[in-house]
Amino acid sequence: MIEIRKVGVVGLGTMGAGIAQISVQSGFDTVGREVTDELAERGRGTIDRYLTRGVGRGRLSADGREAALGRLTLTTELAALGDCDLVIEAVLEELDLKRDVFAELDRVTRPDAVLATNTSALSVSQIAEATTRPERVVGLHFFNPAPVLPLVEVVRARESSEEALDAAYAWAERAGKQPVRCNDTPGFIVNRILIPLLNDCVRVLDEAGVRPEDMDKAMANGAGWPLGPCALIDLIGIDVHVHASEALHGKLGESRMAPPDRLVRMQAEGKLGRKSGEGFYTY
Ligand SMILES: NC(=O)c1ccc[n+]([C@@H]2O[C@H](COP(=O)([O-])OP(=O)(O)OC[C@H]3O[C@@H](n4cnc5c(N)ncnc54)[C@H](O)[C@@H]3O)[C@@H](O)[C@H]2O)c1
Repeated sequence: MIEIRKVGVVGLGTMGAGIAQISVQSGFDTVGREVTDELAERGRGTIDRYLTRGVGRGRLSADGREAALGRLTLTTELAALGDCDLVIEAVLEELDLKRDVFAELDRVTRPDAVLATNTSALSVSQIAEATTRPERVVGLHFFNPAPVLPLVEVVRARESSEEALDAAYAWAERAGKQPVRCNDTPGFIVNRILIPLLNDCVRVLDEAGVRPEDMDKAMANGAGWPLGPCALIDLIGIDVHVHASEALHGKLGESRMAPPDRLVRMQAEGKLGRKSGEGFYTY
């Protein structure tokens, strides 16, 4: 099995910056690729800020932060990922864009490198088809915020080899994560279950005349949820959840997966949850 020593991360947005942080903090030399130098520096700033916060909270020493930042190099060229053993793609959720990135990664990386996508809702198999080595392509689906949430879904696409899956799984474990394997089905594991479940909770607000705070109290005390569904949707972002619901509904067609009217209205009114200051709650 290929030993992962050097990691590439394509896209240093919300997810990519978090994934690059996990990688450097776990001791891997990591190359972060952004489309412009400014965005790359912004990505480094995000990583630095969170590492510094980790020092403040006693999770990391000041030397550890320095060493972690020292493992990060930035580039705007995909060709600079040529000697990476594992490349994780975290660009916008657009199939054509991801396929272009994978076609280029296929050209510039070593043939035995493992290429992974962090897609939430696209088919990993369709992304893999853009390469000449679909057996080296897997999904590595992190959860937001990536440095905080332990789960990583290791997604077996149609042609993924066991060796590539094992290498990606072993890397995730060495990076301190809790990986689980699954097939390339819409929503993988958690979103396939959580999205319709959260939508049920929102529909029950109206059907049963429940206030959001009482819904959260009910699910915390009756089902043992650490965070109630309304608070959770506010944290995820109403727009992100509506988009994910539409994607899942588009693929599997179950009516529970379609976004509830209440969420669509909230999105149109700009009530996006924590990030906009108002959702089910005011922040
Ligand atoms: N945000 C989440 O909660 C979450 C959770 C799990 C998975 N994901 C997935 O992670 C991926 C990235 O999501 P995000 O939330 O980090 O998005 P984001 O908007 O924060 O970042 C998008 C990244 O794509 C890059 N990009 C934009 N246009 C590009 C182009 N033409 N060529 C190359 N790169 C380009 C941007 O520079 C940026 O680095 C998506 O596939 C998304 O579905 C997101």
